[in-house]
Amino acid sequence: MSIQIPRGTQDILPGEVEKWQYIEKVATDLCRAYQYNEIRTPIFESSELFTRGVGDTTDIVQKEMYMFEDRGGRSLALRPEGTASVVRSFVGNKLFGNANQPTKLFYTGPMFRYERPQAGRYRQFVQFGVEALGSEDPAIDAEVLSLAMGIYKKLGLRKLKLVINSLGDGGSRQAHREALINHFKPRIGEFCSDCQNRLEKNPLRILDCKKDRDHELMATAPSILDYLNEESNAYFEKVQSYLTSMDVEFVVDPTLVRGLDYYNHTAFEIMSEAEGFGAITTLCGGGRYNGLVQEIGGPETPGIGFAFSIERLIAALEAEKVALPIHQGVDCYIVAMGEEAKAYGVKLLHQLREAGISSEKDYLDRKVKAQFKSADRHQAKYVAVIGENELQENKVNVKDMATGEQEEVAIDSFVDHIKSKLV
Ligand code: HAM
Repeated sequence: MSIQIPRGTQDILPGEVEKWQYIEKVATDLCRAYQYNEIRTPIFESSELFTRGVGDTTDIVQKEMYMFEDRGGRSLALRPEGTASVVRSFVGNKLFGNANQPTKLFYTGPMFRYERPQAGRYRQFVQFGVEALGSEDPAIDAEVLSLAMGIYKKLGLRKLKLVINSLGDGGSRQAHREALINHFKPRIGEFCSDCQNRLEKNPLRILDCKKDRDHELMATAPSILDYLNEESNAYFEKVQSYLTSMDVEFVVDPTLVRGLDYYNHTAFEIMSEAEGFGAITTLCGGGRYNGLVQEIGGPETPGIGFAFSIERLIAALEAEKVALPIHQGVDCYIVAMGEEAKAYGVKLLHQLREAGISSEKDYLDRKVKAQFKSADRHQAKYVAVIGENELQENKVNVKDMATGEQEEVAIDSFVDHIKSKLV
């Protein structure tokens, strides 16, 4: 029996992988424009990083982490997300000591969560994320949100909804927490066992429960926005006014709760509103995490960021029928007739490639007609034909595949000729 790919994972094959490269390039270029620099961290970390960072009452840590013991008895986890790792690196490498603050970073790579696979939900998925550490200016919140929206817009997505909320500071959250406990406690027996455990430990998590989401107490639960103290409220107002001044559209949704514990103040998600998009409409999630750096052992440092998966982004592009401008074809295909011409073809091909021109030839000893067919399959822009006559006259016959026009070109100027055609 053949060996199957693990559940919830996928191969990205040639033809598809170009989309990923294009998306990563657009996102990376925009990050540069916003002055974010790339960071790369390991795919596995000590498990404790995530239990402490993401939170031990979250689904991610309780149910979805790929944990294992290495041969030295250490408890390690495949990273389920990137923020905790970036913060660990920020602390470990003392990036806070750099005069150039805030530290603005982006990353991309595979993340792992043992979830029930379905459309848009994988066990291995690739996140592109951004973290800005060291500033508590609401303008940074607005910058991070506009960068996320900017990436989607640059890629051609239009049917998007940016939803924002504020979870407030410690004081606001404490007041809200008590209100939530009072709200749910009398009828907590009607909720699932997870929610019963969450009541005292982390009642905010109840609002995020997938099982109990239709319970009538969910709709009437106290809204965090009614518990924001003056400072938190003013902060949230400023974020909104910056977004408005940048023409970034948003809606405020006081029920937005994120699935990770490290958030305070600004929390946000970007949803796809494209028709026919699957049940999971969240494309991107993020928010502010002012206590996380300290939690991981660093100095008190505010932070904010977001992450989105490329899998869901591609699904949104498909739902909106956006075609990315990707040319997978070759610029020049060399058709050779006869042994001598074939040998010369190898030389010309090499020269083309040295000049950075994507080019190809036949390697299956095909007849001329079949070589032309192969050139078509490669979507060649130009086909260069060399036979015995051409060789004798030191010429190449170049055919423009779009117009059908042909011209004789001196062998010595062939590469320059193709180059000039391609600009
Ligand atoms: P998250 O909401 O857990 O946040 O994930 C962010 C994004 O990752 C989601 O919006 C979705 O696009 C993608 N994603 C999550 N799970 C899956 C999955 N199983 N399959 C496919 N895509 C998935 C975080 O991870 C935070 N670290 C975001 C953040 C950065 N907050 C502050 N900075």
